[in-house]
Amino acid sequence: MPTMQAIEITRPGPAEVLRLTTRPVPQPGPGEVLIKVSASGVNRPDVFQRQGHYAPPPGASDLPGLEVAGSVVEGDFSGDNPFGLKPGAPVCALLAGGGYAEYAVAPLPQCLPLPAGLSLLEAAALPENYFTVWSNVFERGQLGRGEGGAAETLLVQGGSSGIGITAIQLAHAFGHRVFATAGSADKCAACVAQGAERAINYREEDFVAVVRQATGGRGVDVILDMVAGDYVPREIDCLAEGGRLVFIATLGGGKAAIDAGVLMRRRLTLTGSTLRARPIAFKAAIAGELHAKVWPLLEDGRLRPVIDQVFAAADVAQAHALMESSKHIGKLMLRW
Ligand SMILES: NC(=O)c1ccc[n+]([C@@H]2O[C@H](COP(=O)([O-])OP(=O)(O)OC[C@H]3O[C@@H](n4cnc5c(N)ncnc54)[C@H](OP(=O)(O)O)[C@@H]3O)[C@@H](O)[C@H]2O)c1
Repeated sequence: MPTMQAIEITRPGPAEVLRLTTRPVPQPGPGEVLIKVSASGVNRPDVFQRQGHYAPPPGASDLPGLEVAGSVVEGDFSGDNPFGLKPGAPVCALLAGGGYAEYAVAPLPQCLPLPAGLSLLEAAALPENYFTVWSNVFERGQLGRGEGGAAETLLVQGGSSGIGITAIQLAHAFGHRVFATAGSADKCAACVAQGAERAINYREEDFVAVVRQATGGRGVDVILDMVAGDYVPREIDCLAEGGRLVFIATLGGGKAAIDAGVLMRRRLTLTGSTLRARPIAFKAAIAGELHAKVWPLLEDGRLRPVIDQVFAAADVAQAHALMESSKHIGKLMLRW
């Protein structure tokens, strides 16, 4: 049986529980392809999985890793193959797990062709953030789909994260006004460089006051939030009438007190989602939207992933430690 190198979680715990190991090369099932991996993205959910707080969904690999780029080796091309992929094609893929390995299996509709001009390393930085931001900011949050499809305003919490930078870049590229929060002057500068009109150092400034002032008291149409907790009432305070608050994580705690009367009076929507356990058909629909509307912006250079640091796969513990320090700006990557 052919084998490969992979990173496994030996037990729940600190970064050191990640270990380079040898595993059998996975076999693609119906509708799946095998990818020889060049690079894998590191995402905060991998840290939660390593800590024992985010189990893989049923049927997913126990290995961490939600995104890869590489070349298709073999697979089942008889079903839905929206991008006409064949063996040998360079792809990036969204996975439910198993990305920290030399080979990974992905459902074919979750594999996208490489945007022209991007390296495999850059392409591996796309799937988790782009799928998450597209489905939460543009679909659940409906940014820009109000009356007349007019430009709207977005506040991104955690603007310098992998997710945050993607949200800033995409919203800015589609002509929306973007505000972002981040925890240092350097991170705020990065948010502005990527398209935020104003970045707010939340350790020094009150994002509610800044947003209200910058919008002439109106507030923002959409907030992408990974903090929750005691941010929630403050976020409600700086949403415009008809505004949408979209949760993708609860770094500040899951519980919040809200005034339902305010939601009614100002017609606000509170929503949120997690991507990993959603069905293949849902992810395939997002892949189609990204390919049609976002890939052209990557190909003409208007969008580029921001990669903070690239690690050899064997140094994965260092990558996790850096992510937990929150000193990074943008993406952390593993190279195989
Ligand atoms: N729902 C989904 O489907 C989904 C999918 C992928 C990721 N996520 C979540 O999205 C978040 C970002 O993921 P990532 O991989 O991009 O991680 P990441 O790069 O490690 O980002 C985490 C960010 O949280 C920021 N942060 C922490 N506390 C904050 C606070 N009180 N106010 C503002 N920012 C704060 C940190 O920045 P500072 O240093 O500036 O505080 C850091 O930039 C994670 O929580 C992850 O679990 C959700």
